[in-house]
Amino acid sequence: MVHLSASSLLLAAGILPNLALGAGLDTAAVALGKLYFGTATDNPELTDTAYVTQLNNTNDFGQITPGNSQKWDATEPTQNTFTFTNGDTIAKLAEANGQKLRCHNLVWHNQLPSWVTSGTWTNATLVAALKNHITNVVTHYKGQCYAWDVVNEALNEDGTYRTSLWYETIGEAYLPIAFATAAAADPDVKLYYNDYNIEYSGSKATAAANIVKLIQSYGVKIDGVGLQAHFIVGSTPSKSNQASTMATYTALGVEVAITELDIRMTLPSTDALLAQQSTDYSNTVGACVETEGCVGVTIWDWTDKYSWVPSTFSGQGAACPWDENYAKKPAYTGILTALGGTATATSTTTSATGGSTTSTTTTSSSTSTSTGVAAHWGQCGGSGWTGPTVCATGYTCTYSNAWYSQCL
Ligand code: XIL
Repeated sequence: MVHLSASSLLLAAGILPNLALGAGLDTAAVALGKLYFGTATDNPELTDTAYVTQLNNTNDFGQITPGNSQKWDATEPTQNTFTFTNGDTIAKLAEANGQKLRCHNLVWHNQLPSWVTSGTWTNATLVAALKNHITNVVTHYKGQCYAWDVVNEALNEDGTYRTSLWYETIGEAYLPIAFATAAAADPDVKLYYNDYNIEYSGSKATAAANIVKLIQSYGVKIDGVGLQAHFIVGSTPSKSNQASTMATYTALGVEVAITELDIRMTLPSTDALLAQQSTDYSNTVGACVETEGCVGVTIWDWTDKYSWVPSTFSGQGAACPWDENYAKKPAYTGILTALGGTATATSTTTSATGGSTTSTTTTSSSTSTSTGVAAHWGQCGGSGWTGPTVCATGYTCTYSNAWYSQCL
């Protein structure tokens, strides 16, 4: 049985994906055959209705990841007492919007409750606690997640194992134990190993590939490698390096995804830094586009207003594709362009009478519409913009930068 994606069915029917109308990041990604373009979100910001309006914009986001509310401290704050309220809020939002949910994460050295970090453990008692946690959390979300990040950040920069409680008490077997437990609780969800600085060749990427092999050597299922991609403007790995590193994972029979993309800069932001950031975003998204086994891209929140960067990296920020006032930055255009902003697609038309087949190549622009009125939050101007310059009644076209004016 041959499974055709929606976009290939449209193409087969001679209908091009109409990127000119309502194109957004997810629309463009799906038109290219990817599963999604998505974003992380978090419970506190869901009280901000303007934020939620854009989070719900399924033209841009076909997938969301809870930034914190499925972590161990949130889900099992005391031993064997599980709280899913906040995680469920985000899971329900995704379901209501028809967005895929990437579930994050089951086993990590950070954001652990004190009963775990301060407990007295033996190999046997910690394995039991690990299995109990994974079984309960994965069972609760069964059928709701596209993927689980089963183990997060197990590696040091030199490719050795991080000396976490898990590794020190259980040894490397904690990885296959975690994956096997997750697979038993939900056989259908994709199971990922997720880490940073494994997006480019080097000791850590090699070690991540070895984790895939380790899990497979136990006869246990692993479906994917998540590339966090927390990058720095001007120092991101090249597109070709990222694509060839992805290939080292997919060669092992697993898929890959970019799971936490953001590209920070030393503040203040300048036009030059924003332009470089756009190029950097474009290269990383482009590496995924080039890689058949790369299923999608998730940014680690879409607006600088709620980015984790300023509170974690002193003096740095402006890492997201939208600024703190929800205006799109040049990075947005960089991403959209990498996703086929000027899309070339081949359509095949079968004539009703003779069955002869003709192929035509059509180029469509995803960034422009020539007439109309931009809605609230819509773009109404900027360098190269050929779309509407008039805003819907009640909204004013407001300059945010040389590339972008918005109806506010
Ligand atoms: C971050 C969250 O965004 C913050 O709100 C929280 O304070 C710390 O964790 N790698 C990961 C994510 O896998 O879970 C982290 O998320 C960012 C780094």
